[in-house]
Amino acid sequence: MSINKVCILGGTGFVGSHLTCRMNSYGIHVRIPTRHPQRHRELMAGGRVELINTNPFDRHQLEAVMDGCDAAVNLVGILNETHAGKDFQHIHIELADRVVEACKASGVSRLLHMSALNANESNGPSVYLKTKGEAENRTHTLGKPQIKVTSFRPSVIFGPGDSFFNRFASLLGSLPGPFPLACPEARFAPVYVGDVVGAFVRALDDKTTWDKHYELCGPDAFTLLELVEYTARQSGLKKRIIGLGDGASRLQARILGHVPGKPFSYDNYLSLQVNSLCSKNGLLELGISPTSIDTVVPYMLSDKSVRRRYQQLRRQI
Ligand SMILES: NC(=O)c1ccc[n+]([C@@H]2O[C@H](COP(=O)([O-])OP(=O)(O)OC[C@H]3O[C@@H](n4cnc5c(N)ncnc54)[C@H](OP(=O)(O)O)[C@@H]3O)[C@@H](O)[C@H]2O)c1
Repeated sequence: MSINKVCILGGTGFVGSHLTCRMNSYGIHVRIPTRHPQRHRELMAGGRVELINTNPFDRHQLEAVMDGCDAAVNLVGILNETHAGKDFQHIHIELADRVVEACKASGVSRLLHMSALNANESNGPSVYLKTKGEAENRTHTLGKPQIKVTSFRPSVIFGPGDSFFNRFASLLGSLPGPFPLACPEARFAPVYVGDVVGAFVRALDDKTTWDKHYELCGPDAFTLLELVEYTARQSGLKKRIIGLGDGASRLQARILGHVPGKPFSYDNYLSLQVNSLCSKNGLLELGISPTSIDTVVPYMLSDKSVRRRYQQLRRQI
C-alpha cells in the first residue's frame, strides 16, 4: 500500500478507535486531531498513533495536522444537538467543508467520508439525515477535481464500544419495570464495526472506489423491537418490552429530548421514520462478507469489562 500516514478526524470515537487499530495493523501511521487528547491516551499503545490537540474549525490548526499525511478520513458526527438549530449545520456541513479545504491546502488528495444510510439533503426525514446528506454531497462536489473522495453510508453499527447494543443493555439493566420502546417497527440491518473499518481500509488505496458512495449493511434485517428483545436475552435480563404506538413514541421523544444526555430526541424519532436498510450492500462490492450480530453481540454483552468501559465512556461525555 502506498499510503503510510492517515489523518483521522473523529479517530477517538467508536468507529475511529477501531479504524485506528486496523490501520496500525497494516503498518499505517495514524494522526488524530482531537479536542481531548488526554482522554484517549490508550489509543497510543500501538506506537503508531499521534493524538494532537486541535480545534478542527481553526483553518491553520487543521492544515497543520493534515500536513504530511497521504489521506484523510472524516468520521466526525453527532446524533443530537447541544445548541438547537446550530450544531448539525456546524459539525456536519461546515466541518466537512473545512476538511476539504484543509486537504486542498495541505496537498492531501485522498479523502474518505463517513455519512449515514438514508442521508439525503432534500428528502431526509430528520435534520440529522438532511445535514449528513448535504455534507456528503458537498464533500464530493467541493473536492473535485483534486481530492478523490469515497463516502460510506452505514446502517446502525455494532461492536465493542457501540452505543446501540451497549446502550440498550445498560438501559434495560438499569430501568425498573417494563421497558417502553419508541418506534418498535423501525427496521435496521446492523453492520459490524470490523466490516465498516475493513471497507475504509479496502477503499483507501483503490482507484475504483473514487467518487463512489457505499451503503454498508449487515447480512440480516430486524425491527427495533426484535433487536431490543435480543439485547435483553443476550444480557441475561428478563424484561418485558412494550412497543409504543406512534403518538406515544412522539411523546417519549419530546420528553426524553429534554433529559440531560438526550437518550432519545424528536430528531431521532424522525430518523426512525425510514427503514435503515441497504438497496445494494457495498460490503459485498468491496469483497467483504458481512458479519452477523450472533457472531459478536452475545460475547460483547456478556463481557462485563466491555460494559464497564462503555459506562466509563458515557460518564466522560
Ligand atoms: N455509530 C453508528 O451506528 C453510526 C451509524 C451511521 C453513521 N455513523 C456515523 O459514523 C461517524 C462516527 O460515528 P461514531 O459512532 O464513531 O461517533 P462517536 O463515537 O460519537 O465519535 C465521534 C467523534 O467526533 C468527534 N466530535 C464530536 N463532536 C465534535 C465537535 N463538536 N467538534 C469536533 N469533533 C467532534 C469526537 O472527537 P473528539 O471528542 O476526540 O474531539 C469523536 O471522536 C459519525 O459521522 C456518525 O454520524 C455512525
